[in-house]
Amino acid sequence: MKDLIYLDNAATTYPKPQSVYDYMYEFYRTQGFNPGRSGYDASLETEQVVQGTRRMLTDFFGGTDCKYLTFSYNASDSLNMIIQGVLKKGDHVVTTNVEHNSVLRPLHHMKHDGVIEVTHIPMDDRGIIDPADVKRAIRKETSMVIMNHASNVIGTVQPVKEVGEICSDVGVCFAVDACQTAGVVDIDVQEMHINLLAFTGHKCLLGPTGIGGSYVREDTPIRCTRFGGTGVRSAYPFHLDEFPYRMECGTLNIVGVAGLKAGLEWIKEQGADVIHEREMRLWLKLRDGLREIDGVTVYCAESPEDHISVLSFNVEGWEAADVGTMLDVDHNIACRTGLHCAPLLHRQMGTEKIHGTVRLSIGPFNTEEHIDTAVEAVREIASLKKIKNTSA
Ligand SMILES: Cc1ncc(COP(=O)(O)O)c(C=O)c1O
Repeated sequence: MKDLIYLDNAATTYPKPQSVYDYMYEFYRTQGFNPGRSGYDASLETEQVVQGTRRMLTDFFGGTDCKYLTFSYNASDSLNMIIQGVLKKGDHVVTTNVEHNSVLRPLHHMKHDGVIEVTHIPMDDRGIIDPADVKRAIRKETSMVIMNHASNVIGTVQPVKEVGEICSDVGVCFAVDACQTAGVVDIDVQEMHINLLAFTGHKCLLGPTGIGGSYVREDTPIRCTRFGGTGVRSAYPFHLDEFPYRMECGTLNIVGVAGLKAGLEWIKEQGADVIHEREMRLWLKLRDGLREIDGVTVYCAESPEDHISVLSFNVEGWEAADVGTMLDVDHNIACRTGLHCAPLLHRQMGTEKIHGTVRLSIGPFNTEEHIDTAVEAVREIASLKKIKNTSA
């Protein structure tokens, strides 16, 4: 059996750095206590790891005070809290066709219940949102602009700084889904005028699943939407309004926090820009290799400047799912096929009716050989179709 070639890093990065596995094991064996609940030294030390990770992530995202960096299960969880915590009856929201269902569905539910109205901005031919379109869509009832930092389907990085400036000028709350960028693309919540940032731990931040979070900029009006234990002021009947409690309830996934800490430490050691540049070199090789194959359509932007290391493609005459199965069964290459939880983007690209695309996504442990093998595998699949066509 050939070794698995893993090109599904946009779903979750795999493998993680060895230090992540080692630290999680060691931490849980020796410091797996409930933080923020009890006063004995061991519990306080666990709390220090949680606080230290809050601080590291706050600095990493250009935040000011680490109490505004709160943990959740994943980005979907934080996006739900952001959307449900900010929007109220009569509000209008501007979002885009590039979004993942983690944004589209919470908005759709509120729209369906008659609470909000939503405008979706289409992307341009490159798969990028024009900030001028966002500006035009903002009206007096608009209380939030929410958008993706990078597409999980075609890998295009969106102009969040420009959109942030527009939102800041007109006093509209700006929320960003940084699921695919946190860890590889610079994020500075101050400079980008981001009020609410949602991230997940298990993708480019190289942590485990089950941990994510948000950064809420000071004075952003967000209500608490979850109530429960906080470990402090137990006699008070309401959930605590102060941060981080406003966005957290119940015992944290401490082993997840530990893994996230180790992932971030590894990224800082290597340099996020170094990781990104290396991934983008492989991405260029992949894109150019696929483009040379007859019958293959590649969906991405032209300039690597506007990109993360994700792209989509289709092979003429084949369903995306069939290509995925052949990559898996015949070549031991892991990828993802279908709509990738981003139905509006496929509707706009015209790939919805052909059931989506094949997505390849590169991570820090992929090599040139992986890319060569993937390109050759797609070439073989495309030529199989030709034989089939010829004999038909
Ligand atoms: C752009 C984007 N947003 C949100 C999510 C949801 O992330 P999670 O599953 O960690 O909640 C994903 C995951 O694929 C994503 O790519």
